[in-house]
Amino acid sequence: MGPTGGGAGGGVGMTGIAEGRVVIVTGAGRGLGRAHALAYAAEGAKVVVNDLGVGLDGAPGPDSPAGRVVDEIRAAGGAAVAHGGDIATSAGAASLVAAALETYGRLDTLVNNAGFLRDRMLVNLEEDDWDAVLRVHLTGHFLPLRHAAAHWRAETKAGRTPRARIVNTSSGAGLLGSVGQGNYSAAKAGIVGLTLVAAAELARYGVQVNAIAPAARTRMTERAFAGTMAAPDAGFDAMAPENVSPLVVWLGSAASAGVTGRVFEAEGGRITVMEGWRPGPTADKGARRTPAEAGKTARKLLAEAEVPGVVYGAG
Ligand SMILES: NC(=O)c1ccc[n+]([C@@H]2O[C@H](COP(=O)([O-])OP(=O)(O)OC[C@H]3O[C@@H](n4cnc5c(N)ncnc54)[C@H](O)[C@@H]3O)[C@@H](O)[C@H]2O)c1
Repeated sequence: MGPTGGGAGGGVGMTGIAEGRVVIVTGAGRGLGRAHALAYAAEGAKVVVNDLGVGLDGAPGPDSPAGRVVDEIRAAGGAAVAHGGDIATSAGAASLVAAALETYGRLDTLVNNAGFLRDRMLVNLEEDDWDAVLRVHLTGHFLPLRHAAAHWRAETKAGRTPRARIVNTSSGAGLLGSVGQGNYSAAKAGIVGLTLVAAAELARYGVQVNAIAPAARTRMTERAFAGTMAAPDAGFDAMAPENVSPLVVWLGSAASAGVTGRVFEAEGGRITVMEGWRPGPTADKGARRTPAEAGKTARKLLAEAEVPGVVYGAG
């Protein structure tokens, strides 16, 4: 495996920004998660490669892609172990954290990345499609975070305050909304809320929590956005998932000290800090309004406010 920047290869004794760290990446059998796992290993981390091996809609798949990524990492001289559990179940999340501790004796970084889509317009969105997508993304972030955080709290209580990191995966769909993805947008917006709370609550245990909103060519995007995702014949392949991983590796390393509760967009060679909700124009009457008065005030304030970003796929 070639270097991903400043680091050398992933073999024992090699140096890199993640050297000596034990990193879990969920949904790392393909796509962005695979790229993150390979990048961490190339920077010296030992990686727990989780993947349940499901189809794009979450239906059971024919194989376990986690094993193939582990083989790739080991072939390049790195250290990795596969975990095939469902991260959206408590048992799966607990066994994932246990796999890191039992195999490598520690856990430093959790990258929550696994997920799938069930895109439908809201009028056609069945309750099953809603539940499945909320479950895999939002519950699938919460449960590994919950089990990892419990471990880091125990470490802190034992006098070993970690330099732990969690990198969550949101989406532009969660930040701006995306037509045909009501379930996914709600889940990915929820991941931002979870990130903010986790950053605030877990700081005392030495845990930093950030989120990324990536864009890259994977099976999730290669058909729906075929035009923008296509690889060029020559030059920089901006939509390769490997372009997102360097920021994820840095956020998950000790080098990102002091950075927590932030959301970054990462696509090609571009990194953007996303700036969230904050109070805009405001008016206080000091007394209750009638609905008509509330409407008049709301319209006046809206005229002064910034125009929100356009929902993906709208207009
Ligand atoms: N590709 C993009 O442009 C893009 C944009 C925004 C957000 N994202 C997010 O990035 C993450 C990775 O997406 P991707 O594009 O690489 O998709 P992908 O389908 O290539 O990879 C997702 C992986 O997660 C695994 N998985 C699904 N459910 C699981 C479960 N319950 N337990 C364990 N593993 C499970 C799948 O088997 C799959 O290998 C997702 O959270 C996705 O929503 C991707």
